[in-house]
Amino acid sequence: MADNGSEGTKTLSIRDNRTGKNYEVDILDGDVIRAMDLRQIKVNDDDFGMMAYDPAFTNTASTRSAITFIDGGKGILRYRGYPIDQLAERSSHLEVSYLLLKGELPTQSQLDDFVHEVTFHTYVHENITDLFEGFRYDAHAMGMVISAVAALSTFYPEAKDIENPDVRWQQIVRLIAKMPTLAAYSYRHHRGLPYVYPENELSYSANFLNMLFRIGTREYKPSPVLERALDILFILHADHEQNCSASAMRVIGSAQSDPYSAMVGAMGALYGPLHGGANEAVLRMLERIGSVDNIPAFMEGVKKREERLMGFGHRVYKAYDPRASIIKRTADEVFEVTGRNPLLDIALELERIALNEDFFVERNLYPNVDFYSGLIYQAMGFPVELFPVLFAIPRTVGWLAQWQEMLEDPEQKIARPRQVFIGAEPRDFVSIDDRG
Ligand code: CMC
Repeated sequence: MADNGSEGTKTLSIRDNRTGKNYEVDILDGDVIRAMDLRQIKVNDDDFGMMAYDPAFTNTASTRSAITFIDGGKGILRYRGYPIDQLAERSSHLEVSYLLLKGELPTQSQLDDFVHEVTFHTYVHENITDLFEGFRYDAHAMGMVISAVAALSTFYPEAKDIENPDVRWQQIVRLIAKMPTLAAYSYRHHRGLPYVYPENELSYSANFLNMLFRIGTREYKPSPVLERALDILFILHADHEQNCSASAMRVIGSAQSDPYSAMVGAMGALYGPLHGGANEAVLRMLERIGSVDNIPAFMEGVKKREERLMGFGHRVYKAYDPRASIIKRTADEVFEVTGRNPLLDIALELERIALNEDFFVERNLYPNVDFYSGLIYQAMGFPVELFPVLFAIPRTVGWLAQWQEMLEDPEQKIARPRQVFIGAEPRDFVSIDDRG
């Protein structure tokens, strides 16, 4: 690496040992080179040029983003510069949503206006309830909510006008506002209960709890501890930079699809057990282990690669996920109201073993956001199938902030990775009678 003087530009020298030629490429802020700068490296003039091969994007920056910062080695997470623990302690999900979308914390009147906007877009068209009626009683909640978000794009055809900032903002508000309503409808459909309409005087999380759990006309008053705990969980899940689902949102959005259609793709990515579906998978794993006595056998299975310890490990964090420590503290507060989740003992023992055994220590496997969240959700009365949806509600703002940033970035265009072709050489078609 060289620092070539006057303008302070840093460069990287590359020598191609096939040809003996030397190349200099600029090192940009963030210690990155442009992959396109590799293209000049050729053996012959008519070669395509060199590319970087990076399946699963383990070392490829797809964007320059100002939204969320993670230092995986130190276990640091910040939204727009603000540490996650300060936001979890002092902010609300809607204030954090404003911050993620606009880049700055709102003034009181800006926050009041935003909360008002979101609150007055919580209703969904009545035909959406017919859509839910089309699902079997045992349909997975995430499948129902994904379908409902896809359906919303047909109610708002103007959303296709993605170049118009006002139209974009309207869809952002609608999606943040309607996700809890759709999530609650999926639960009520599963239970065979009548849908409860949004109550505009309630907070974002209290309104969601009301739509889920109110029975008949009786007033439902969620415990303030649970209302706040849910809001904290929403803050912790709001964004996580270029993860699988955010990347899906950006890639689909780069084709200029409307945000509902793009979000359907992001939700599909989140649903997977290696991503946001892990919270459901953790709970099912804890139930399957069943008792602390069965843990040693389970952990042997993990070490033999017959099992995966769900809720552990992360592509970016090689330290304790800061979200997991906040969730663990929040769990104590929730259990004071709901009673202790009996699966907690199994989870604590799994964590104790994992933090001390070589297999996990050598691979930097620490609890991630999904390890303890399911225990809280279960104690609060949410069914397991709703867990990925409980991740999708707050992540909606992260997806939309990433989508908006991508659209406003002049460097972005339709996403289109390259491949290294390893298939057959050209050959002539063989008619079916002549095939062996
Ligand atoms: N249990 C057992 N072994 C694991 C685990 C785990 N949970 N996670 C990683 N490993 C091992 C893996 O087998 C590999 O070992 P080796 O080098 O000997 O082959 C090593 O650790 C590195 O793992 P990797 O699969 O190369 O790591 P990755 O960055 O591709 O995967 C991950 C990250 C999150 C998909 C993975 O850790 C995992 O599957 N965890 C369980 C699922 C989970 O909890 N997902 C939620 C992630 S946090 C929420 C979110 O943001 O989505």
